[in-house]
Amino acid sequence: MSFKEQINLRQLPNHIAIIMDGNGRWAKEKGQDRLYGHFHGVESVRQVVEGAAELGIGYLTLYAFSTENWDRPEDEVTGLMELLVDTIKKEVGTLNKNNIRLHVIGDLDMLPEAAKKEMQEAMEQTSANTGLNLIMALSYSSRWELAEAIRKIALEIKDGVLQPEQIGQQTLANYLCTKDFPDPELMIRTSGEFRISNFLLYQLAYAELYFTSVLWPDFRKEQLYQAISDFQSRERRFGKTSEQLKK
Ligand code: IPE
Ligand code: IPE
Ligand code: MG
Repeated sequence: MSFKEQINLRQLPNHIAIIMDGNGRWAKEKGQDRLYGHFHGVESVRQVVEGAAELGIGYLTLYAFSTENWDRPEDEVTGLMELLVDTIKKEVGTLNKNNIRLHVIGDLDMLPEAAKKEMQEAMEQTSANTGLNLIMALSYSSRWELAEAIRKIALEIKDGVLQPEQIGQQTLANYLCTKDFPDPELMIRTSGEFRISNFLLYQLAYAELYFTSVLWPDFRKEQLYQAISDFQSRERRFGKTSEQLKK
C-alpha cells in the first residue's frame, strides 16, 4: 500500500512546516556547485505545494532562507535571491490557478529591492485565494521575530495602548509574524539533521517533529505522504495521560 492510501483524510495536520535542508550536499554528491542543488530544490517545492493543496492541508510553511543564511558566500546568496525572483515570477499563475494564497514571514526589508517587490506583488495577486495558505519564511529567524514582537509590545505599553497586566499567553502570539496562522502540528526536516535552526521556536511548542535523511531535492509527494502517515500514527497527549485521551 502506498503512503497516500494510508493517510486518513479526516485527520490531516492543518499546518505543516518544513525545514528544506540538504541542497548543498545533494549538489556535492553530483559534483556540482551548491546553486545547482538550490535550483533542483525548487522542483521539490512545487511538488510539495501541489501535494499539500491536493490533500486539502490548510497551511504550509517553508523555511527558504534564514537570518543566519545571510552569512553564506556572497555568490550563493545572490544566486538564491535570483532564483527566488525567477521562481515567484514563473509560479504566480499556478498559485492562482490552484487557489493558493502566498504569505511571507521574515525581515523583508533585508531582501534586495527586486526580490522584495516581487514577493509583495505575489502576495497581493494571490490575496483573494481561499485554498492552501503557503507561507514562505524568508530572512526569517525565531529570535529576530521574538525581539521584534517584544519591541512592538514595549512601544504599545509606552504609548499606553497596552497595560502590562493585560499580557497573557496569547499576547505574545498576537505580535509574532504568524499571528494569523494556527501553530504547526507537524514539522519536517530533511537531510538527516536533528535541529530546529532558529525556526518557529515559539510556534512549534506542541508540533510533532519528523526527521528524514532524504535530501531536499529528492523530497517528493511520496515523502510528504510518508511524513503525514507517521504523524497520524502518533498519540498527541498535550500533557495528559494516554488513558485520559481514550475517555
Ligand atoms: C537548504 O540547503 C537551503 C538553504 C538553507 C537556503 P543547504 O544549502 O543548507 O544544503 P546543505 O545543508 O549545505 O546540504
Ligand atoms: C536551515 O538550514 C535554514 C533553511 C533551511 C532555510 P541551514 O542549512 O541553514 O541550517 P544549519 O546551519 O545546518 O543549522
Ligand atoms: Mg543546510
